[in-house]
Amino acid sequence: MNIVIIGTGYVGLPSGVGFAKLGHNVVCVDIDENKINSLKEGKLLIYENNLEQAFLEVLNKNLIFSTSYSFINEADIVILAVGTPQSNDSEKADLKYIFTATNEICKNLKDKNKYFILAIKSTVPVGTGDKIEQIIHEVNFNIDVASLPEFLREGYALEDFYNPDRVVIGSNSYKASKILKKLYSHIDNDKILITSRKSAELIKYASNSFLAMKIHFINEIADFCEKSGANISDVALGIGLDSRIGSKFLNAGPGYGGSCFPKDTLAMLGMAKEFGIDISLVEATINGNNDRFKKIVNNIKDILKDINAPKIGILGLAFKNGTDDCRQSPAIKIVKELITNYQNINVYDPKAINNAKSILNESVNYTNSIYECAKECDLLVVLTEWDEFKDIDFSKLKGRVKVKKIYDTRNIIDLNEAKKYDFDVINIGVYRK
Ligand code: UGA
Repeated sequence: MNIVIIGTGYVGLPSGVGFAKLGHNVVCVDIDENKINSLKEGKLLIYENNLEQAFLEVLNKNLIFSTSYSFINEADIVILAVGTPQSNDSEKADLKYIFTATNEICKNLKDKNKYFILAIKSTVPVGTGDKIEQIIHEVNFNIDVASLPEFLREGYALEDFYNPDRVVIGSNSYKASKILKKLYSHIDNDKILITSRKSAELIKYASNSFLAMKIHFINEIADFCEKSGANISDVALGIGLDSRIGSKFLNAGPGYGGSCFPKDTLAMLGMAKEFGIDISLVEATINGNNDRFKKIVNNIKDILKDINAPKIGILGLAFKNGTDDCRQSPAIKIVKELITNYQNINVYDPKAINNAKSILNESVNYTNSIYECAKECDLLVVLTEWDEFKDIDFSKLKGRVKVKKIYDTRNIIDLNEAKKYDFDVINIGVYRK
């Protein structure tokens, strides 16, 4: 099939590469000329696990990049994958990029009778498909507008593309559902769910809200463990073994971040308010997660209370592992708060240093390795769950740090290894006297 993807971010680009790898002809369109030029030259501007090799394999074969919308005239499917950030003045998603792209499609349509599917992959409020359909149908009544929510996780985007838990196709047209189902013929039939467009739009928000709630829940249980003497690893394992609960997304930590959960939970709340519905669980999740970083900072202050002018080493700045993305990263929030209290902060992240620099500027010392970061520190704080941190070489670390203390907010450090070298590891959700 001929596929045009509008938007080449963390969603559009991996999807474009994925569809091209499956043999479709893909054109990725973006208004950002620099980005498109760089992609044309084979340079990715984001880090995403395993993406680069797959991208280079299809680049200029059946995957091309352009700033021109004219390619929609040959498309079977046009996928909207532009950002829907949070509005500046409300909880709602800002749909300006969605409507700009829709208007560009209308402007560039040559044949007013042409059929294609306009599939909305961007996360949009319930009812947005109706609005887009109205605009599109003013110029072409044949086009089918569908909702095709994406469930890719950053850092695992290609993995999720090839092996998703489910594909949701929200369409009120039988023809469009059939074609979109064919697009996903690499996925087992029983994983493909066809719903109305509005249901598909809501499935996306409800999924992200539920997952955010699950994380907030386990973080609250971790707090409970810290006070009561229970251990969060055992508790998470014990509840996760109940198949009705499930073991995934029960890792306690510094709170959820990224470009999706924070904005989507807020947008969910905004939508609910508009419909006059009380979704207090989502509201409590948002508020609890907003405060989570303060709790971590207070713990750090408490650990360091007896040390004069301590030096802190921060391991991890990305909002999670496998990505360079620092948007709404709990690690960044924590560092920003620490800067107001401490003068000497080293930071290290395997992939996110450049993005972090654009936020933290010169307020911290950037380092190139765990061991450089740890040099002469009084406390090391693990904030992102990178594999590299799980595999810390304690024999190498030993001679570097001043005080052998690690605050592991992701509970990933090998406690036996740490103990061998006399490191004191403070975990999340573990009682300390
Ligand atoms: C999330 C969803 O998982 C995807 O299904 C969805 O497609 C995507 O949002 C989106 O809406 O585009 P993503 O933001 O990439 O994906 O990241 P997650 O892997 O879900 O992690 C989100 C945050 O929760 C991270 O800060 C992570 O560290 C945190 N988290 C996750 C925990 O603190 N504990 C966990 O057990 C799991």
